[in-house]
Amino acid sequence: MAKRLRMLMRMRNLTRTGQVGDGREEALAAYVLAHAAPGDVDDAIRVIDEYAYRQATLINVGDEKGLLLDAAVRRAEPRLLLELGTYCGYGALRMARAMPPEARLRSIEFSDANASVARRIWDHAGLGDRVSVLHGTLGDGGRTIGRLVAEHGFGPGRLDFVFVDHIAPAYLPDLRRILDQGWLHPGSIVLADNMKVPGAPHYRAYLREREGTEWRTREHHAHVEYQSWVKDLVLESEYLPAASGGAGPVPA
Ligand SMILES: C[S@@+](CC[C@H](N)C(=O)[O-])C[C@H]1O[C@@H](n2cnc3c(N)ncnc32)[C@H](O)[C@@H]1O
Repeated sequence: MAKRLRMLMRMRNLTRTGQVGDGREEALAAYVLAHAAPGDVDDAIRVIDEYAYRQATLINVGDEKGLLLDAAVRRAEPRLLLELGTYCGYGALRMARAMPPEARLRSIEFSDANASVARRIWDHAGLGDRVSVLHGTLGDGGRTIGRLVAEHGFGPGRLDFVFVDHIAPAYLPDLRRILDQGWLHPGSIVLADNMKVPGAPHYRAYLREREGTEWRTREHHAHVEYQSWVKDLVLESEYLPAASGGAGPVPA
């Protein structure tokens, strides 16, 4: 009973604040700075995985699904990437390692505390300006979208890769916001995590209805991060040429 209550409290904290509620994210930053070699992205990733297995689990994409993320980024050879949901910066470290040296990744995070943890870890790993986090959401009334356009070079057809990994109810609305901006081009890749746990049925149905016309999606079976008994699903979707022919806003 106490275990169940603890789990419910954590879920509530995560939804409200983006953190588990016991200080593990802040402790992770200190752990990485103490144990990872400065300027070494591989080592930062290794140390975060070590922390998640030995100290306290984290809601990063994790080492198993992380391999799917790495492979998708390598296939896409992106120049401009967007991550929705930074958390402590682990997924971004993996993408930075897999993307071409001249590429730029911008990550959106609604928790200021998480953005601060990610920045400290990235600084330690030496990512420089290849990766940066914007505190906000794509649904914050145009503030974050405006900054992406004005300060980070986002514009029609510019965005090559999107990692959707924030909060399930926002998956489809935020994909629509990206489409409304016209940022994707034929061949852009959108990778979505946690499609089984907790799942994003509207997002999945949207892609299914458009399979072969606007999108081509591959389903990758894996497990929830940092364990091997609960299954999860990652969707890798390619935006197709026919979809962008008409450009313009996508009907809600
Ligand atoms: C699953 S974690 C992201 C993990 C990260 N992508 C990684 O692999 O290291 C989800 C994060 O999304 C953030 N978040 C929740 N709702 C959001 C929203 N609407 N926009 C941006 N970030 C959001 C949470 O605060 C949390 O840090």
